[in-house]
Amino acid sequence: MENSTADILIIDDDPDIRQILIKYLVELNHLPMVVETLSDGLDAVKSIDFALVFLDVNLPDGSGLDALSSIKNAASEPEVIIITGEGNAQGAELAIDSGAWDYILKPFSSHEIKLQVKRSLDFRASKRTLKSSSKNFLNRSEIIGSSPKLMSRLNMVAQCAKSDANVLITGQTGTGKELFAKTIHMNSRQKDDNFVVVDCASLPEHLVESVLLGHVKGAFTGADLKQDGLVKKADGGTLFLDEIGELPLSIQTKFLRVLHERKYKPVGGTEEIESHFRLVSATNRNLEEMVKENQFRSDLLFRLRTIHIDLPSLKECKEDIKDLTLHYIYTLCNHHGFENKGFAPEFLQVLENYDWPGNTRELVNSLEKAILSDPESPMLYPNYLPNHIRIKYVQSSIDDHQNALHPSNDRPISNANKLISLSDNLLKPIKPLKQVKDLALAEIERIYLEALMQSSKGDLDEASRLSNMSKSRVYQLLKKYNITRS
Ligand SMILES: Nc1ncnc2c1ncn2[C@@H]1O[C@H](COP(=O)(O)OP(=O)(O)OP(=O)(O)O)[C@@H](O)[C@H]1O
Ligand SMILES: [Mg+2]
Repeated sequence: MENSTADILIIDDDPDIRQILIKYLVELNHLPMVVETLSDGLDAVKSIDFALVFLDVNLPDGSGLDALSSIKNAASEPEVIIITGEGNAQGAELAIDSGAWDYILKPFSSHEIKLQVKRSLDFRASKRTLKSSSKNFLNRSEIIGSSPKLMSRLNMVAQCAKSDANVLITGQTGTGKELFAKTIHMNSRQKDDNFVVVDCASLPEHLVESVLLGHVKGAFTGADLKQDGLVKKADGGTLFLDEIGELPLSIQTKFLRVLHERKYKPVGGTEEIESHFRLVSATNRNLEEMVKENQFRSDLLFRLRTIHIDLPSLKECKEDIKDLTLHYIYTLCNHHGFENKGFAPEFLQVLENYDWPGNTRELVNSLEKAILSDPESPMLYPNYLPNHIRIKYVQSSIDDHQNALHPSNDRPISNANKLISLSDNLLKPIKPLKQVKDLALAEIERIYLEALMQSSKGDLDEASRLSNMSKSRVYQLLKKYNITRS
């Protein structure tokens, strides 16, 4: 992406640094402005729309890091690059977590500065394109997230709004197919008419036709009155065929005709009825595979997917987990009549580390479980989450730790392997059972405590929470097995 001329602010009290930055920025054809203090910097970002700010850490009137969020929240939402000496590198790393683009250690090279300027401005330009194309045209309703993959799907929703084309939404379970279908409806010409959901998976096969197309009086035993079908109800609005992969083949054939002509005959009827609806369908099944296996009509698939939106899994959009978590904690607390709750940093770490096979639905359910596990607590901690999610976190932190300690092939044996080799040692030579039991228990306790210290990073509060033991008990066991907390 080509950068055009950008307004860039330099907040630094060191005249040499200012001079050299100005030189590099002018060489890149940008417009630098300099200030020497934090307060002048904060004034400047209020009055001028900067694209990028270079921010020194040690300034005469305070630390640049403390002003980071005010600068980022200025109207132009500039990117921020922190300039720092060795001693502040750790704080600067933290600043990246709070949204700084990068930090650059003094002394720096021309190449380093120019590369980061270019990258940050490219990033900003692509962020803006995505934002404007979805913001201007789209009511995104309750769809949360701003990861590139999600934003590209929102752009497709904005495209859908411009036409009446049939849309097929695919994606794993819980990725938001129904939510996207509703959002397409809300942004379409049909938005003031019905959004009719047909769950093809739960329709009894012998009733599918009459539920969809309706029936005339006396069409079958029990049809005492004439009944309109869902297709009629969707006239002027949107018909959402959820789980379309479950639609029986016989109905697929009939439905193809309805789609083709927008006309149909209710069960037992002779008169043709018209219905003009927008069709959106969804499935988590692979319809192409089903076509190959003769379970789905290829001509129907062809008609359904004039526009195809394939939703990403939550694992592919990990950047969105934080926003989803904040949104759903707020919504769920509201729903249950609780004050909004905060969460410990480790809570988010555990969520971000997990792969979410059930995608956003599983995340929402897990957050609800966490909220309900201690309604009185104003904060959420990892131990409120379902066990299998926490276990994954513990396992991966042990793996990370071992990888860091032993980057090559000489990795120590895993905990599972430790247990196997432990059982070999205990059994050779064969000893009295009681003695083996005591030895095994002690060894398992030791392995457990090592793992506990790794995942709690030696923090006794955290170790106590994870292990469900009192702090003093954890401490006692550490002493017993001579395990250090570091
Ligand atoms: N991007 C998102 N932002 C906010 N909520 C989301 C998002 N994606 C999914 N959800 C929420 O996750 C839950 C599951 O979404 P939805 O029912 O639309 O999934 P689905 O793909 O239709 O799942 P299934 O295939 O199991 O029917 C809902 O509560 C929905 O509101
Ligand atoms: Mg669904």
